Amino acid sequence: MIVFGGSSSLKLAECVCKGLDADLGLVDYRRFPDGEHYIRILSDVENRDCVLIQTTDTNDSLVELLLMLDVFRDLKVRSIHTIIPYIGYSRQDKRFRVGESFSLKTILGLIDQFSDSITTVNCHFLNSAGKFQFENIWVRNLDAFPLVAEYFKDMLDNPLIISPDKGALEYAKKAAKIVGCEFDYLQKIRVSDHKVEIDLKKIGVEGMDVVLLDDMISTGGTVIEAAEVIRSQNARSVNAGCIHGVFSKGWDIFDGILDELVCTDTISLDISKISVSKLIIDTVSVIV
Ligand code: R5P
Repeated sequence: MIVFGGSSSLKLAECVCKGLDADLGLVDYRRFPDGEHYIRILSDVENRDCVLIQTTDTNDSLVELLLMLDVFRDLKVRSIHTIIPYIGYSRQDKRFRVGESFSLKTILGLIDQFSDSITTVNCHFLNSAGKFQFENIWVRNLDAFPLVAEYFKDMLDNPLIISPDKGALEYAKKAAKIVGCEFDYLQKIRVSDHKVEIDLKKIGVEGMDVVLLDDMISTGGTVIEAAEVIRSQNARSVNAGCIHGVFSKGWDIFDGILDELVCTDTISLDISKISVSKLIIDTVSVIV
């Protein structure tokens, strides 16, 4: 087996390689002067089982992934297993209005053409770990919430896990079991892509060390609104943990709002204090 990392997930791919005691594939990634990607696979992959890890948080990283996958096929690999720690476009997982693009179907359809298997981590529309069929495409989804829960376990005196909306409630429940505390959720109303309103549900947070758990933080609007509601009800501390730190407005917007902010390395950032490498290692050991 040989493990490759796209340029968005190189660090994670290196960790996975070490854990599997596998070879790390060599790639020349470059950009042409106009910004287009140049990819050359330098390792010999003919008749080998390949694993490619690449987060697609940007359009560039998606193009890079597709280029790499197609080269693998041309180089006659035995199999290619695609691991996408964070898959972009996953929030457009249906056609909400007539005429809209069904973005996740398009993206997964492209990736599926070249892959023997597809694995994601906490793909937005999937609420649990396991194998799921989406528009005739099989996707294996891994759950990193237990890792985030482990991070907060023993760190807080009076913990309470809160999901900012009902969608992540199942995850909050499981995380609360690991932390050994209660859980609850807030009522979220999305007003626009940039604005959410959190209903002031009275949930008894006074004196508690609240952990807001969400699958992703994108603009930060959800977490900021939720944190304000919780602070106004006299919580002792307000912390947040997410799997995917998209942070489209950066993370310094949370200074003074959150006591602790943590995310995993599905998107590689300075504040990625939790690695999903173990989840990937365990999965690759089973599927390849
Ligand atoms: C929504 O369903 C997700 O779970 C997140 O709550 C959402 O994507 C966060 O977005 P933002 O940070 O832009 O509020």
